[in-house]
Amino acid sequence: MDNLARISETGIEKVFLHTEKVKEILENDISNMNTYPVSVELTLTNRCNLNCCYCSDKGLREREGISEELSFEILKRLFIDLKNGGTKGIVIEGGGEPTLHRDFDKIIETAKEVGMSVGLITNGTSNLSKKTLKEFQWIRVSLDASNADEYKALKGVDAFEVVLQNLKKYKQNCQTVGIGYVVTKNNIKNLDDIIVRLRDIGVDYVQLRPVVDCPSIELANVNFDYLKNFESKEFYVDTSGFKNNSFKGNGGVPCYASSLTSIISGDGNVYICGRLNIYDWLKPIGNIKETTFKDIWNGEERIRQLEMIKDISFCEKKCPQCRISKYNLFFDSMRRIKTIDFI
Ligand SMILES: C[S@@+](CC[C@H](N)C(=O)[O-])C[C@H]1O[C@@H](n2cnc3c(N)ncnc32)[C@H](O)[C@@H]1O
Ligand code: SF4
Ligand code: SF4
Repeated sequence: MDNLARISETGIEKVFLHTEKVKEILENDISNMNTYPVSVELTLTNRCNLNCCYCSDKGLREREGISEELSFEILKRLFIDLKNGGTKGIVIEGGGEPTLHRDFDKIIETAKEVGMSVGLITNGTSNLSKKTLKEFQWIRVSLDASNADEYKALKGVDAFEVVLQNLKKYKQNCQTVGIGYVVTKNNIKNLDDIIVRLRDIGVDYVQLRPVVDCPSIELANVNFDYLKNFESKEFYVDTSGFKNNSFKGNGGVPCYASSLTSIISGDGNVYICGRLNIYDWLKPIGNIKETTFKDIWNGEERIRQLEMIKDISFCEKKCPQCRISKYNLFFDSMRRIKTIDFI
């Protein structure tokens, strides 16, 4: 299945479906990229029912605490603001486990009523209703283990089979259901077994990604070519994150693409990006409990931070491994093209 025509749900090519945004990124100074994000990554709650040893949101949870949740009223106001500004999608995701929010069903229903597309990143432990499942354009379940023992050891709770059961229901009621699999030294041995099992359940893809910020279980130089043998027209294994998400220091270019997304944490803080917020010195650019997203997006603190990430030496020193780097390297090359009137 490795050919030029292969486009994946998680690939970089998707950005070209958003021509206005691409044009803005190619033609403007970074501090002047003001169109609303294509999609927003929204944390509903910092609470979680698992305890993954590698959880990248642990530090944020410790700083923000786990007691606060975004209220339904604040979220509804946010959804209307995003819709009016031109944002298309909302990824409901971490901080903690989003499905644990007390108003989860109502929040998803409201986002859809307002006209947003909604995607979900979940640990898959919740038995969601068919009605709610049908609202999502896509769901990605973070499985991160190939059997019950690995799951318990990595994620602290015995829930592997529950998640596989839930997956069947998710797939029956949502058009695109994928698996997120953070690969570590401790869950790579039986990858082929679980990939076959997941394909037989009918999931659309398995996305393998390197664990980040967790050196004791990180892997070096893995070859996943053999997994291509398990692919079919309806199922693929995406390993591009091992190549594309491996740059540190943003590959030595400025961050052109931060405005593709925006990150809103469980206590309402909006961050310039989802990776620099591992640092406790990074200020949020605003808080949606205090003011509107529109004011935050157009506000002084965002412009100040855009100036900061425009500086190559800042990115080289401070950007950790980041999925946005692949867009930045791509846009950096595109911005250098001089013979634009020719193919
Ligand atoms: C922080 S979780 C929040 C949503 C939900 N609780 C879940 O686990 O899907 C979001 C995603 O980040 C992934 N993740 C967590 N820690 C990571 C790490 N150190 N490296 C790479 N991915 C990580 C999880 O596997 C999950 O797919
Ligand atoms: S389930 Fe998600 S939020 Fe909870 S500990 Fe695991 S990765 Fe972190
Ligand atoms: S970590 Fe760096 S490259 Fe990634 S989005 Fe943030 S500023 Fe951009």
